[in-house]
Formats: sequence, C-alpha cells, structure tokens
Amino acid sequence: MQMIGFAVQLSFVFLAVSKAEAGTERRAAIIISSITDDDFDNDIELRKREVPEPEAQIQTTTLLFNLSKNADDVRFLLYNKRNLGVSQELRYNDTESFKKSSFNPQEKTVFLIHGFWTNSSSPMPTTLKKAFLEASVPFNLIVVDWGLLSKPEPPKVLYAPVAYSMVVKRSIPIVYNRIADFIRFMRASNYTSLKKLKIIGHSLGAHVAGGVGRTVASFPESKGRKLARVTGLDPAGPLFQKLPVGQKITKDDAEFVDIYHTAAGTLGISAFTDGHVNFIPNGGHHQPGCVDPTNPVLGEAEFGSCSHNFVTKIYAASITRSFLACECDPELAIKNECPVNCNVTVLAGEPCPASTRGQYYFETT
Ligand SMILES: *[C@@H]1O[C@H](CO)[C@@H](O)[C@H](O)[C@H]1NC(C)=O
Ligand SMILES: *[C@@H]1O[C@H](CO)[C@@H](O)[C@H](O)[C@H]1NC(C)=O
Ligand SMILES: *[C@@H]1O[C@H](CO)[C@@H](O)[C@H](O)[C@H]1NC(C)=O
Ligand SMILES: *[C@@H]1O[C@H](CO)[C@@H](O)[C@H](O)[C@H]1NC(C)=O
Ligand SMILES: *[C@@H]1O[C@H](CO)[C@@H](O)[C@H](O)[C@H]1NC(C)=O
Repeated sequence: MQMIGFAVQLSFVFLAVSKAEAGTERRAAIIISSITDDDFDNDIELRKREVPEPEAQIQTTTLLFNLSKNADDVRFLLYNKRNLGVSQELRYNDTESFKKSSFNPQEKTVFLIHGFWTNSSSPMPTTLKKAFLEASVPFNLIVVDWGLLSKPEPPKVLYAPVAYSMVVKRSIPIVYNRIADFIRFMRASNYTSLKKLKIIGHSLGAHVAGGVGRTVASFPESKGRKLARVTGLDPAGPLFQKLPVGQKITKDDAEFVDIYHTAAGTLGISAFTDGHVNFIPNGGHHQPGCVDPTNPVLGEAEFGSCSHNFVTKIYAASITRSFLACECDPELAIKNECPVNCNVTVLAGEPCPASTRGQYYFETT
C-alpha cells in the first residue's frame, strides 16, 4: 500500500527533525502507516491516535497536539530598509495596517515562505531577510509566518510524522489560499501588481508558493495572467514525489519558476524538470560539509537535512554575489561531471533572467 512508502519517507523526516532516540523510526512508520485519508476528516481522532510502542507492545502512547487550522494564524511581517530590524505586521483586508507601515507600493514585493516545523524566526527567513536588506535594490519583503499551522503545540518530535501529513494535506491549502487572498486584497488596494510580485518558498514552503501562484492565476481579475516569479528552494520530497502538476510546485504556477535542488531524493523532490529552470548546485544531492546521504549509517539518520537547508545559504549568497551556472545534462550534473568548457551560462539565484530555460549546474563551497 502506498502509505507504507510514505511511512518510510516520513520516518526520515521525523529523524531529521529529532536526531531521534532508538526505536522512533519504527514507531514513526507505524504511526504513519495507520493513517488513512478518512482520518483527515476527523482531526480529533487523528491527533488522539494511540500508538503501540514497538519495543513493548503492551504500552501505548496517545498523541494529542494542536495544529491550527485558522487562516488568521498566517501572519505577514514587513521588512525593508526603512524599518530595518523591526518588523511591521500587515493584516489581511486592513488598509490601515499598510498605511501605518513603511510599505511602498512603488517597489517590488517579495514573499518569503518557510517550511515544516519552523516559523519566521527560523534560519530560512532570517538568512534571506538579512541578504535582501543588504541588496541595493529596495524591496517590500514580507515574511509569512505560518508557524502555528506548521508546528504542533506542544512541539514534541513524537508528533512529527503525523503532523507532517496533516500539514501537507490540511495546512498547505489553508496557507496558500490565505496568501493568495492577501495578494488579491493588495492588488485591489493598488499596493502591488502581478508584475511586481515574487514568492520564494523553502521545502514545504516551495509547494505553498506554487499553490499561491496557481490560486492567484485562477482569480477572475487575473484574466489567466500569472504572477511574475515563484522560486522553489529544494521543494519538499516526502509525499510530493509522485504528485501531478497542480498539486506541487511546477512551471505552470508563475510566469517564471526557478527551482534549486540540494537534497534531491531525500528531503528534496527528485525530479529536475518541474521548473522553467532547474538548478543543480554541487550535483543536487549532497552539499559541501554535509553528510553523504548514501552513507549507510550517518546518511540514513540525517536524511539530507543539512543539504536541504544549504539551499538557503546559496540563494542568500546569490543576492549579493554572482554564481555563474552552466547548462548541463542532469545525468552528468548529479555526478559532478559537467564539461568545464560550457557553451551556455546564466546567473543562478536572485539575478537569474526570467527567460532562462533548462537545467544548470554550478559549484559552491
Ligand atoms: C489545544 O488548544 C486548546 C485551545 O487553545 C486548549 O484548550 C488545549 O489544551 C490544547 N491542547 C493541547 C494538547 O495543547
Ligand atoms: C476580505 O475582503 C473581501 C473583499 O471585500 C471580502 O470578500 C472577504 O470576505 C474579506 N475577508 C475577510 C476574512 O474579512
Ligand atoms: C518560533 O519558534 C521558536 C521555537 O519554538 C519560538 O521561540 C519563537 O518565539 C517563534 N517565533 C515566532 C515569531 O513565533
Ligand atoms: C486603483 O487604481 C485604479 C486605476 O488607477 C483606480 O481606478 C482605483 O480606484 C484604485 N483603487 C483604490 C482602492 O485606490
Ligand atoms: C558546445 O558547442 C560546440 C559547437 O556547437 C559543440 O561542438 C560542443 O559539443 C558543445 N559543448 C557542450 C558541452 O555542449
């Protein structure tokens, strides 16, 4: 059954989150394999699920946690050079919150979307925020905080596998619909336009970003036009590997979709074809200074979490310095065997031109 495959993958998400104790991997697999689609209609029962301990079958552990399903818990925190260091909260359908803030409708607006089990204080938003504020071009940077829908309360690692599937199936649509509605409100208030919008998401946040793009394009006032750019930073793999277009980030989601792969096949999605352009830094699987995922002991336990987070550093660096990438067959790229004499080069990351197509390789330290 398909769920068993999910179970194995999710147990690794669990491990990556927890650096876990012995036995937790099996327990995670048992938890996930016991979830059915019907469970998602019965939130309370899912959260109260009793889980047999693998070691001592007599005992059970009752999961009981809160994961918000309230769209109002999705928060929008504005940063720009004018309010440097101190966020200003922008509120959906509240023009006063915009007028009181340092938001500038003339400037482009960039949304940053974090992933699973994190919030706006996590490395992805903080690293990218710092880089954007150092950039010469002014932006309205909006950090989306969906922490209450991404991390259960209490945040015990034992809940991570169940929480991951709940976040994928339930939270992600709530979050991308709210961000899309927020953009709809911004456009109606003349605070932005499709051409001025860019969404950057990491891991599950990349799939949220794709959903925002699709939803905004589906609004009647968009008349089929899409927002300018969606950037996927190592889009999450578990539960997404086999999903079709429309249920994960793809090139259909914006005028330009650029995707960066750093932990393909572990925590990251393994196809190198979902974006208009797919970047394969350092071979796309295993980043410098991180454990090799094929290592039978350390690699399994770590399951790519270091490489998965490395993408944030690469993208942040691209805002202030140049990475020249070389068009290359992914078969060669994954082996770090792209020809040195490269016929087609582009700038990777933030300055990547929207006309770029294909698959590109570059190296970093
Ligand atoms: C869940 O949230 C409700 C309302 O805030 C609270 O009463 C309850 O104790 C919480 N449950 C857990 C397990 O934290
Ligand atoms: C936000 O404003 C729109 C347009 O006025 C309205 O249709 C929608 O119901 C409002 N949503 C909320 C949650 O207030
Ligand atoms: C993010 O989560 C951390 C750890 O749970 C917490 O200390 C911090 O206050 C949270 N940040 C926000 C903005 O909620
Ligand atoms: C937005 O701009 C359009 C065109 O200039 C104008 O017709 C409309 O009234 C403006 N809307 C708001 C809410 O200011
Ligand atoms: C670069 O272009 C030349 C001439 O068109 C071609 O012979 C060569 O194979 C190309 N190299 C690569 C790496 O694609």
